[in-house]
Amino acid sequence: MQYKNFGRTGIRVSAIGFGSWQAGMNAWGKDYSVEDVRNAIRTAYDLGVTIFDTAEVYGNGLSEKILGEELRNREAFIATKLAGYNSRDPEKSIERSYRNIGRTIDLYQVHWVPSMYTNLDKLMKRLEGYVRKGKINHLGLSNFPLKFLKMAQDALSREEIVSLQIQYSILHREAELDLLDYCRESLIEIIAWSPLARGALTGKYFGKKMPPSISRYQEMYNRKHRISPELESYLKSTSDRYHIPISAIALRYVANMGMIPIPGSKNPAQASMNSSVFDYDVPDEIYTEIERLSRKYRDKGYKNLVPRVIPNFMFKLVAGKLL
Ligand SMILES: NC(=O)c1ccc[n+]([C@@H]2O[C@H](COP(=O)([O-])OP(=O)(O)OC[C@H]3O[C@@H](n4cnc5c(N)ncnc54)[C@H](OP(=O)(O)O)[C@@H]3O)[C@@H](O)[C@H]2O)c1
Repeated sequence: MQYKNFGRTGIRVSAIGFGSWQAGMNAWGKDYSVEDVRNAIRTAYDLGVTIFDTAEVYGNGLSEKILGEELRNREAFIATKLAGYNSRDPEKSIERSYRNIGRTIDLYQVHWVPSMYTNLDKLMKRLEGYVRKGKINHLGLSNFPLKFLKMAQDALSREEIVSLQIQYSILHREAELDLLDYCRESLIEIIAWSPLARGALTGKYFGKKMPPSISRYQEMYNRKHRISPELESYLKSTSDRYHIPISAIALRYVANMGMIPIPGSKNPAQASMNSSVFDYDVPDEIYTEIERLSRKYRDKGYKNLVPRVIPNFMFKLVAGKLL
């Protein structure tokens, strides 16, 4: 495993993290069990992963609980998220997440820009009031476009935004157009979600459709982000030539960009593959070629944003059950 500083915090974390949406047991199909996920978390930890991501919406708190139980008494950095629709009452969410995880939350992220009926300035000030009082250590954001990231930063007077979580993978590179440079200059750590494009970058769905599950509707129906035959065949031949799994190439690509990928794993086999990506020797040229073959996903992609006109209660009604 490789380790790096987490933004400006000075905390050392693993350069590959662990995504725990799958531990919500709701949106990723029925081909795995709670025990598989628990084993996946333990496997990742044993292989050196120290940064784990979850959210209050994943299985309505189940993911937070499982993660908290498995990491109890272990040195790990746990990040969770406030659902955008709960941003009117963040205290309740913080208390619930704190209870679920069973210890101080290392990183508390606002999951997405709240609806336009929520005052972002007030929300950030309220969150700031919670930091370093025992329940939250640091504040981060998730899915905030640059304009809103700056607004959230401006609202804070004592604390700083230490990280931004965004969708980023070989098939989702829009962040390079603006967010990446800004975050690098501001020492804001970038956490990359769906670094395997929800399985599309593992090779097992090449040429086929992804299995139906609510979490994948975008990858299945969004043609702009579908993997091109050229990229597919390059990834396959590189994997064969250097004896490295396609998923590892995809995760190394994200880590090479200076971000922390947080692949979601449903079982120990996936967790083991995803936590061992630095074990392989691969020449830098492969990243240059992948960059070239995937440039269209930077220039022609679309931004994945939650429409801000949807009132909180409506969003909660739907997303609260599905995620
Ligand atoms: N902030 C946000 O809005 C946001 C949004 C989405 C996710 N996230 C976070 O980011 C994490 C990762 O994103 P994600 O789960 O959406 O997508 P992902 O990491 O790109 O893909 C995860 C899926 O890929 C498959 N997979 C994983 N490792 C594999 C391997 N080594 N070999 C073969 N297949 C493998 C598994 O599904 P199958 O076995 O079914 O193929 C797994 O469920 C989440 O767990 C969550 O913590 C955050």
